[in-house]
Amino acid sequence: MSDWLPSLITETPAEGYDLAVKLARVAVKMTQPEAEIRERLRAEYAEDAERLIEASQVVATHFATVAAANNYWR
Ligand code: HEM
Repeated sequence: MSDWLPSLITETPAEGYDLAVKLARVAVKMTQPEAEIRERLRAEYAEDAERLIEASQVVATHFATVAAANNYWR
């Protein structure tokens, strides 16, 4: 997992949002390296509105960082 994040700079806000989702997911993968366990837990959070909202919040935090790094694509 060394060179998976070469830059925070993206062409468009939509690409920046994709990067924010990736940042969130990579943290989960680093924290729980066992794919089998992640797959089991996926089934739980995928059907729990509160946990989906929490996941959205994590993405929103990363998106704020990515947007700032890109000077809000101005
Ligand atoms: C799938 C985001 C937390 C395990 C997905 C997908 C997204 C996503 C967008 C759909 C991928 C697709 O269908 O193309 C996130 C975000 C998280 C989060 C933003 C937290 C902030 C977790 C956690 C686990 C998990 C805590 C389990 C420990 C999985 C698995 C899949 C999945 C196994 C299905 C496999 C895959 O499509 O790659 N997640 N997730 N995720 N997530 Fe999460």
